[in-house]
Formats: sequence, C-alpha cells, structure tokens
Amino acid sequence: MTVRVDLNISLDGFATTTDQTPENPFGEDWGRLTEAYVATRTFRERVLHDTSGAGTTGVDDAYAQAYFADVAAEIMGAGMFGLHAHGDDPGWRGWWGEEPPFHVPVFVLTHRPRPSIEFANGTVFHFLEASPEEALARATDAASGGDVRIGGGPTTIRPFLKAGLVDRLHVAIAPILLGRGIRLWDELRGLEAGYTVTAETAESGTVHLTFAR
Ligand SMILES: NC(=O)c1ccc[n+]([C@@H]2O[C@H](COP(=O)([O-])OP(=O)(O)OC[C@H]3O[C@@H](n4cnc5c(N)ncnc54)[C@H](OP(=O)(O)O)[C@@H]3O)[C@@H](O)[C@H]2O)c1
Repeated sequence: MTVRVDLNISLDGFATTTDQTPENPFGEDWGRLTEAYVATRTFRERVLHDTSGAGTTGVDDAYAQAYFADVAAEIMGAGMFGLHAHGDDPGWRGWWGEEPPFHVPVFVLTHRPRPSIEFANGTVFHFLEASPEEALARATDAASGGDVRIGGGPTTIRPFLKAGLVDRLHVAIAPILLGRGIRLWDELRGLEAGYTVTAETAESGTVHLTFAR
C-alpha cells in the first residue's frame, strides 16, 4: 500500500491558478497547466469518456495511466471539491457531474462537514474534519490494501508531506510560469531527504519528477 501524490505544477512551483471567472470557472491558466495531461489518451478516456482512441500515447500518457492505477481511496481538500466556491449550495456534488473519475471512496477535508454523497460509479464523497493522520487512517481502512492518493490541492497536500506521510510524490512540471497562486513547495525545506528522486522528460516538455521511498 502506497500513499501517493500526483500533481501538475508550473515551473515556478504553483499548483493552483488565479484567473477564474464566473463564466470560466477554471480559468485559462488551468488549461495551460494541465495541457499535456489533458491531451493524453488516458485522460480522454477516463475523464472525458472519449472512447475513440484519440490522444497522446507517449511519456505523459504512461504517467496518466499510472495516475489511475491502483488507487483505492482518495483524500482531497474543500477547495478541490469546490466547497470554497459553492459551499453555500447544499446541492453541490463536485465539479465532475454524475461521473466523477474516482470510482472509490473520497475523503474531503473540511471544517464544515456535510452528508456523504454517493454516485452509481462507485465514487462516494465523505466530508470530515480530521488531522492528516486521522484522515489517512480512514482512507487506508477504506482502501483495503490499495493505494491512497492525496489528490490536492496544495494546501491539503503540504501537511501530509510535512508529516512524512507520503511514500511517492509525482509532480508533472509544465514548462510554463504562472507567477502567482498557491505553491506546492513552501515550508518543505529538505523534503527530498529520505526519497530517491528520478526525472523523466516528456515530448511535451513536461518534466515528471518522482520522489519515492
Ligand atoms: N495542480 C493540480 O494537479 C491540482 C490538483 C488538485 C487540485 N488542484 C487545484 O487546487 C485548488 C484547490 O487547492 P487549495 O490549496 O486552494 O485548497 P484545497 O487544498 O483543495 O483545500 C484546502 C481546504 O481544505 C480544508 N482542509 C484542509 N485540511 C483540512 C483539515 N485537516 N481539516 C479540516 N479541513 C481541512 C480547509 O477548508 P475549510 O476550512 O474551508 O473547510 C482548507 O482551506 C483547486 O483550484 C484545484 O483546481 C490542482
């Protein structure tokens, strides 16, 4: 069982974007940050439900396949689920519509818990206020031996990294500069100690950096 993080970040270390508008809730920078990942055949199949076989099949796709493999429970923050933008709406069911691409129990960390939400495809969102250690214990239990991913965003991931709870951190570093947002690396001086660090560059210019124990 591995505790994993897989995240897209910019060259200057930002994992969130800042140009969202009501008309464009993800903003244009989100497209720039995730361009190589979204272009993969695996993302198109798993998230966009495109079964035409379209999409890239190189290094980025190999990491996209690994992203979806073996994860049996996920932990995410209130921001990633959309509660910071839509928390006042009791009917909010996340950004992903009726086919969330998780298919496993997802534990959403929040100071304002709400009832669980279940989807036909196996995704269940549970909302809890808990320390990283407590949340990980819940997710590990639910995963029954499978991997647990700390999905994001960076505010949620950093305490797990700081507490030494993450076995494998994979960052896909897009060759773009965002200049602002929430940085993954803040307050993590010396994080690399205890990990073996490997890097692979994809055809897109994305550098896949993996810290593994
Ligand atoms: N680059 C990527 O690959 C990637 C991946 C995933 C998400 N994202 C982006 O990340 C953004 C969100 O990131 P973010 O850093 O702003 O927010 P976030 O990490 O998703 O959520 C942070 C919030 O979660 C709640 N929380 C976290 N830990 C908690 C704990 N131990 N107990 C109780 N509540 C806890 C708190 O919310 P409350 O106090 O309000 O309850 C906190 O403000 C999204 O815009 C998404 O697009 C990027």
